[in-house]
Amino acid sequence: MAYLQIAIDGPAGSGKSTVAKEISKRLGITYLDTGAMYRAVTLEALNHKVDLHNPEALKKIVNQMDLNMTVSKLYVNNIDVTDAIRTPEVTRNVSVVSMDAYVRSEMVKMQQKIALGQAVIMDGRDIGTVVLPNATYKFFLVADPTERAKRRLLELKAKGFEATLEALVEEIILRDELDSNREISPLKKAEDAIEVDTTSYTIEEVVVLILDYVKGVRK
Ligand code: CDP
Ligand code: CDP
Repeated sequence: MAYLQIAIDGPAGSGKSTVAKEISKRLGITYLDTGAMYRAVTLEALNHKVDLHNPEALKKIVNQMDLNMTVSKLYVNNIDVTDAIRTPEVTRNVSVVSMDAYVRSEMVKMQQKIALGQAVIMDGRDIGTVVLPNATYKFFLVADPTERAKRRLLELKAKGFEATLEALVEEIILRDELDSNREISPLKKAEDAIEVDTTSYTIEEVVVLILDYVKGVRK
């Protein structure tokens, strides 16, 4: 039996996870935040103070990690790291860790296993191209970098972190560059993905638009 698979890719702050989470609720299907998995590996690597450019060190980190995800929580070796993976330090370092071949192959294996036995909506950078190349629907969300940085600024301020819009624009552009130009599974729109520019859309508008495609109302 073929299960419904929805792939949502795009750069940082384009709205992927917020929109994917909401769609998963409305359709009653499993949501997987694949970025959270790369963030968890990054957090572990930072906590163990390993060289993030050293493949052997990263391999060790991945092999000693027991990663568990529920609807709203992420655990590494039974420790709740849901908030710890969202710090600016993890965000600044995650793109380097995500370039690593072993890290990627292990994460992709886990993601594909999760999609085997159930309907899913997954968001990330390589879902439509690598993780679920035969997904039922593929979307590629984009938005103007300044708008994406503004969204991030609001989020960070709400969590009590200091940040400026200029620094966040720079950081977002740098992360996009690293994610788009890496050798393995770069951030790239799948040929058969539907591109949605969310710059001037509300979350609800993007959710409705995607659901219209899934329901066949829009083609
Ligand atoms: O939410 P935000 O856009 O900040 O990023 P995220 O989805 O949490 O992903 C964090 C980082 O993980 C990205 O910048 C990528 O470097 C990496 N990532 C990846 O390489 N492949 C994925 N499928 C998901 C995330
Ligand atoms: O997952 P990704 O990094 O693509 O973005 P996100 O974490 O879903 O969204 C980043 C922030 O932008 C969140 O605080 C969302 O509430 C907000 N957002 C928005 O204001 N308008 C949208 N159309 C999409 C997201």
